[in-house]
Amino acid sequence: MASLPTATAESFNYKVVRQFAIMTVVWGIVGMLVGVLIAAQLLWPSLNFDIPWLTYGRLRPLHTNAVIFAFGGSALFATSYYVVQRTCQVRLFSDKLAAFTFWGWQAVIVAAAISLPMGFTSSKEYAELEWPIDILITVVWVAYAFVFFGTIVKRRVKHIYVANWFFGSYILTIAMLHVVNNLELPVYFMKSYSLYAGVHDAMVQWWYGHNAVGFFLTTSFLGMMYYFIPKQAGRPIYSYRLSIVHFWALAFTYMWAGPHHLIYTSLPDWTQSLGMVFSLILLAPSWGGMINGIMTLSGAWYKLRTDPILKFMVVSLSFYGMSTFEGSMMSIRTVNALSHYTDWTIGHVHSGALGWVAMITFGSLYYLIPRLWGKDKMWSTRLIEVHFWIATIGVVLYIASMWIAGVMQGLMWRATELDGTLTYSFVESVKATYPFYAIRLAGGTLYLAGVFLMAYNVFKTVVGEKAINPPVPTQTADPIRPAASLAKA
Ligand code: HEM
Ligand code: HEM
Repeated sequence: MASLPTATAESFNYKVVRQFAIMTVVWGIVGMLVGVLIAAQLLWPSLNFDIPWLTYGRLRPLHTNAVIFAFGGSALFATSYYVVQRTCQVRLFSDKLAAFTFWGWQAVIVAAAISLPMGFTSSKEYAELEWPIDILITVVWVAYAFVFFGTIVKRRVKHIYVANWFFGSYILTIAMLHVVNNLELPVYFMKSYSLYAGVHDAMVQWWYGHNAVGFFLTTSFLGMMYYFIPKQAGRPIYSYRLSIVHFWALAFTYMWAGPHHLIYTSLPDWTQSLGMVFSLILLAPSWGGMINGIMTLSGAWYKLRTDPILKFMVVSLSFYGMSTFEGSMMSIRTVNALSHYTDWTIGHVHSGALGWVAMITFGSLYYLIPRLWGKDKMWSTRLIEVHFWIATIGVVLYIASMWIAGVMQGLMWRATELDGTLTYSFVESVKATYPFYAIRLAGGTLYLAGVFLMAYNVFKTVVGEKAINPPVPTQTADPIRPAASLAKA
């Protein structure tokens, strides 16, 4: 293999990566704190104190927007900017534009945090923000695309490492989804009506909603996985060829699966069947990716005993596998007849969100933070270990309670007497769910406690003394694909 061009840490823009990394932790705390609050409100509704902006209906979208776009989004900006620089061995395309994406994205988040509790909403799930904020998002996103793809264009390494393909497709797809789903007629400041109506509105919304999950919460985090797992394990990716097949199969299949959110609705039957079939096919690329990530540890499994960062990463992949298997099953009409409208969906969401998205983020941040601030390693490995166990127990409590609650609700709602009357009233199912809400609250609180530990560990690492030999910068390009693995691919 030809020798790779050299670059030093100074030649990269780490400032914007640092900023986004810190905000990931901050927004993680805020978003999950609101999650814990609404989980508590489901047990004790009076926790809204009769204040309109503290009501469940306003705080729920605040939670989803904060965890997905503020926490997840900041993590993705940080890691994509880091990865694209390291693997292309070149500084970001434009420092000014990168700084604009940071401040612009924070402005979007603050606008969301103010407008959602005030009750401004377009009422489209995961796209609740009103039109002026939508325009700001579009502008920031276009700047993001310029920075990312501009960096790829001026790269000093011929090959475009696979993580960049995943990040690139997420940036392009989110741009398209955001613009198409938010086509709306403004009637006055902070009020608009969707351009679509009826079943078309529903279809466009869930084409958006599903692909927001597929590209914002999955493809992008797979980009993270393809860089940080090989780095932390010290092994090249298990199969580079599989990673390429994985990419194209996933990007193609996700696009068609949206109608599984609208099963048994007035959407044409064939569209529902199409969504269901593509959701089943989706299992193959999803598991292909999971296997590729997990098998990267071949020959490095022993590291799991002592390395909690790797534990985070491997467990996140296990949750990725579980939640995608579950999602494919829930797309089957007869299964969806039971799961839809129940807490089973909430369990599925958080097995993906807490288990996959947040855990791969924690693992990647623990890798990244010391390198960004020129330290040997995180201040306390022991604290990472504690975080890992608290988070794992937290997720398990959360999702197991929601699964049981969901299946119970589904069964109670469909139970009938011999004469055809319903066996249970709705309120009986709500009462029966209470204990599970309490368990979910405990799980969520534990999970949040873990993020506080992380924040403390990050703080101590950042303010601690600089290392004499920090692990990065290296003088050569990233050794993710040494010659041997290139030959194998
Ligand atoms: C401490 C951690 C968390 C707690 C306690 C929590 C709690 C909750 C609660 C109570 C709901 C409303 C459920 C309902 O309406 O029945 C919810 C919804 C949701 N949460 Fe979380 N959450 C947490 C973390 C996260 C994270 C990290 C993410 C994403 C990365 C996430 C994504 C979502 C989504 C997408 C929904 C909407 C689900 C749907 O509409 O089906 N949550 N969460
Ligand atoms: C093969 C992959 C997957 C498939 C086929 C799939 C399928 C499904 C299905 C059938 C539903 C229930 C729709 C309903 O009854 O309303 C659902 C809901 C959901 N899934 Fe997945 N899922 C997959 C992976 C994931 C992952 C990895 C995540 C998170 C990172 C996720 C997040 C969500 C969210 C947020 C919802 C709730 C949407 C809402 O109603 O607000 N899914 N998914």
